[in-house]
Amino acid sequence: MAVTGSDLSVAKEFLIKGELVAIPTETVYGLAGNALNEKAVLSIFEAKNRPAFDPLIIHTDSIDKAAIYVADIPDKARVLASRFWPGPLTLLLPKRQIVPDLVTSGLDTVAVRIPNHALTLQLLSQLSFPLAAPSANPFGYISPTKPEHVDQQLGERIPYILDGGECEVGIESTILGFENDETIVYRLGGLDINEIESLIGPVVLMPHSTSDPKAPGMLKSHYAPRKPLHLYRRDDIVPGSAETGYLMFDRYLEGADRKYQRLLSPNRDLKEAAHNLFAYLRELDTLPVLEIKAELVPSQGLGLAINDRLQRASVPATA
Ligand code: TXA
Ligand code: MG
Repeated sequence: MAVTGSDLSVAKEFLIKGELVAIPTETVYGLAGNALNEKAVLSIFEAKNRPAFDPLIIHTDSIDKAAIYVADIPDKARVLASRFWPGPLTLLLPKRQIVPDLVTSGLDTVAVRIPNHALTLQLLSQLSFPLAAPSANPFGYISPTKPEHVDQQLGERIPYILDGGECEVGIESTILGFENDETIVYRLGGLDINEIESLIGPVVLMPHSTSDPKAPGMLKSHYAPRKPLHLYRRDDIVPGSAETGYLMFDRYLEGADRKYQRLLSPNRDLKEAAHNLFAYLRELDTLPVLEIKAELVPSQGLGLAINDRLQRASVPATA
């Protein structure tokens, strides 16, 4: 059973021994292990039931340390890293040999980020290795944004959950890669692509694929609750049976029971909506409802990343 606490020395000790610790970040909780220790990395895949073709992000606390693990940092990547790290941005960069192939699923790029969470930055600064950390949820399920989310699903499998409170941003990092002269968005996330474009110019959105292992992280069905989730355009959502839960953007749905409704942001603030998204999906999943109806949020800024998560959490449309 996992102990939840905020003792850095305990977390550090487990990690040095090659064991796993759940760590807080500004985006979601991560399931962390020594990225340079193949046994630790393997146990991350096992604990999550994650397929080996889906590579991991390594976390560090400075650009200088990142440079130990990547062979090259293109100019655009450096500009972005200087501006947005620590923060919800992951960069795909050519890997050095020191990074085990297991971490990158055999790809020649490694995903790197500096998370913006004081406790975890302090932990990273005390370690002589980077932390490989996927989101701390069973593969395919909703990412955890509170320590108790981790405990509920992985508590039996790990010794320690480092308690850093609720994750501020609430959705995973934005993932960027660099090919030729293009900057490619592999995953929409907590850093608004408008902010990225205003710094380095236009980026290219990678279309979703269902199972192409060259584009991991783009799996179509992901971030899903256990209950079927049906997605609607705003104003197309209508009350269902009495056993329906609702994820609404800013106002209650008329004609449906309010106790089964969650409002992502009554103020129409997309940051607040992102912050609440996964926690509310989990709440709806545990209510005595048979299905969840959700409405899309405005498709701008962080709304694009929120809608991407909702889309992938939803069951394929039957009609
Ligand atoms: O916010 C986040 O990024 C969180 C926190 C814990 O840092 N981490 C996270 O990790 O979301 P994970 O493993 O749940 O998602 C990382 C995604 C995966 O979908 C993986 O396929 C993709 O990043 N990825 C990792 N390395 C890659 C690579 N070399 N090329 C393409 N995609 C990669
Ligand atoms: Mg994940």
